Amino acid sequence: MCAKTIETKDITYDKLLQGNKDWVKDMIDKDPAFFDKLSAGQSPPVLWIGCSDSRVPANQITNTKPGDIFVHRNIANVVVHTDMNMLSVLDYSVNVLKVKHVIVCGHYGCGGVKAALGNKQVGIIDNWLRNIRDVYRMNEGEMAAIEDADQRFDRLVELNAIQGASNVMNTSIVQTAWSKGQELAVHAWVYSLQTGIIKDMEVTCTCLDDVTPAFKVG
Ligand code: CO
Repeated sequence: MCAKTIETKDITYDKLLQGNKDWVKDMIDKDPAFFDKLSAGQSPPVLWIGCSDSRVPANQITNTKPGDIFVHRNIANVVVHTDMNMLSVLDYSVNVLKVKHVIVCGHYGCGGVKAALGNKQVGIIDNWLRNIRDVYRMNEGEMAAIEDADQRFDRLVELNAIQGASNVMNTSIVQTAWSKGQELAVHAWVYSLQTGIIKDMEVTCTCLDDVTPAFKVG
């Protein structure tokens, strides 16, 4: 408790707690054993790596429930091989939870990707978004050929999700799982804020044969 009391209660804050009570009631009405079952343990079949954007919540947009998806989110759903947070989540979900699918889900209109397309300094986040500039650079020919700025933005969102999925499969974690014969698929998706529809980028990988030789460690 801090010495200085800051008034935190307001309509928004109260609404969250009331919302929780309403939700609990709703869930118990639908399934009286809902919380008993969930409190016994989790066995989600999916790991979701998505953007922190408040408009892209994994469960709601896939019509799933608590217990269905293990979630990792960061700004612009960037997957970097030195990110201990992401690696810990990936390791735990693949080796302990034994998820069957890892989905990297980007979204059109992503502010992080947009910032990476510009030349304005935002702050520390510029260093995080540098990874997306790398995606741009790796696909410079394709990007430069797109004349329309909005289309270029959309395409970088797609390429960033595809690169994220590729970085997931290039980890020692996923390659070891595959070399042991574990069933695991890695996917890239992009969600539309405008329609609510998810686009499967159809770059799904399921075995070591899909790994570029330069990245093989399994
Ligand atoms: Co975003």
